[in-house]
Amino acid sequence: MSEERTLLIVKPDAMQRGLAGQIISRFEQRGFYIVGCKLMQITQELAAQHYGEHKDKPFYAGLVKFMTSGPVIALVVEGPRVVETARTMMGKTFAYDAQPGTIRGDYGASKGFNLIHGSDSSASAKREVELFFKPEEILEWTPANRGWLFNDEDLGATSE
Ligand code: RTP
Ligand code: MG
Repeated sequence: MSEERTLLIVKPDAMQRGLAGQIISRFEQRGFYIVGCKLMQITQELAAQHYGEHKDKPFYAGLVKFMTSGPVIALVVEGPRVVETARTMMGKTFAYDAQPGTIRGDYGASKGFNLIHGSDSSASAKREVELFFKPEEILEWTPANRGWLFNDEDLGATSE
C-alpha cells in the first residue's frame, strides 16, 4: 500500500504554547499531507482506549490527566513511509532526551510534556485512526505537487 497513514496528536502542552501551526507545518514541508483534522478535547474514555497498552504503568494516571486537560488537534497524515518518518521527526519519547532537529528536541525539555503523539507502527496507526476518526471525516485527495515529492519507487514503500 503506497498511501500509508498515521495518527498524530498535537498534545495539550503544544496547544497551550501556541505551537500547533509550527508542528503541523513540519509535516507539510516534508511532503506529507493532511487527510483528517479535528480540534477536540480527549475524553477519559478515549484516552483509556488510546493508551490502553499503558494502563498498568505507573505513569498512566498522569498521562491520561495530561492528555484530557485541554484542546488537542488530532490529524491523519498521509504519504509513503509516513508512520516511520513521523516517529523520526518527533524524536525520542522524553523531550529532554530528544535530538535537536526533532519536534520534541526543538520545542521541549520536559519528560512528559512531549508535544506530539504519533502512531508507533502500521498496526497502531490503523487502530488509532479508526479510534479518532469516522471514515467520512477522512478526505481522499492528492496534492498537486505529489509527483515532485515522491517517485514510483516511493509509492510502493511502507513502514516496517
Ligand atoms: P506517544 O505514544 O505519546 O506518541 O509517545 P511514545 O510512543 O513516544 O511513548 P509511549 O511509550 O507510547 O508512551 C506514551 C506516553 O507516556 C508517557 N510516558 N511516561 N516512564 C515514564 O514516565 C513514561 N513513559 C512513557 C510519555 O508522555 C509518552 O508520550
Ligand atoms: Mg506511543
